[in-house]
Amino acid sequence: MTTLDFHKFKSENRKISMVTCYDSTFAKIINDSDIDCILIGDSASMVMHGEKTTVPAKMEWMEEHTRSVRNGAPDKYIVADMPFLTTRKGLEHATDCAGRLLVAGANAVKIEGIFGQEEIIAHIVQSGIPVMAHLGLTPQFYNAFGGHKMQGKTEAAAEKIIEEAKLAEKLGCFAIVLECIPAELASKITKAVSVPTIGIGAGVECDGQVLVLQDMLGMTGFKMRFVRQYLNGLELIKGALNQYSADVHAGSFPAGDEIK
Ligand code: KIV
Repeated sequence: MTTLDFHKFKSENRKISMVTCYDSTFAKIINDSDIDCILIGDSASMVMHGEKTTVPAKMEWMEEHTRSVRNGAPDKYIVADMPFLTTRKGLEHATDCAGRLLVAGANAVKIEGIFGQEEIIAHIVQSGIPVMAHLGLTPQFYNAFGGHKMQGKTEAAAEKIIEEAKLAEKLGCFAIVLECIPAELASKITKAVSVPTIGIGAGVECDGQVLVLQDMLGMTGFKMRFVRQYLNGLELIKGALNQYSADVHAGSFPAGDEIK
């Protein structure tokens, strides 16, 4: 998949599947799967570093996760998140951070919000760095939103997100993540822009879907209504660990060929 395929897939009505990934072990599995593309989300802050929000995510973490995922998934299209405030400290800083993520192995960067950073987004796009926009529940605004809450519920809030989506397209963003907004609003935006929308908690009419890998594999215990769990990872992994521990305690591991 290339940046141009996002537009092509939308025009062909072919849905885009995306999952997050942060390490090379999972990246290798995804590389050999049918998943279309990978997001190195700043959700790494919570999933990999145990933080409560994405606010503490650091550039250095995102670079390291990007490098690891690229090493494991050489064939996949990779989008990496620009962490909190990296696009709010001026053009030079933002361009430098975006460039570092591409050098680390990303094909594109994702930026939360539009208003107040129009010039920066246009500059990054014009510098040859594809930008995916992220609208609706933008988790870096956790403190401003008063938590991880659904967005776009009032008419005024919905209008603002529509306006942002149109602006994202105009600034050259190649795709738009729509997080936790009403399905009808996501559908309206999907019809209003020519670039694909990738939904998470935004209904089925988006042009694609993204989920946090560890949530969909049932490893985090995080069960929002929009997360479909495809594996009971917690139980399976805990079961394997307990079996290994029991084998060690019983003196039955290692045995046979394992000792040779
Ligand atoms: O950081 C992340 O994982 C994300 C997705 C939830 C869209 O931004």
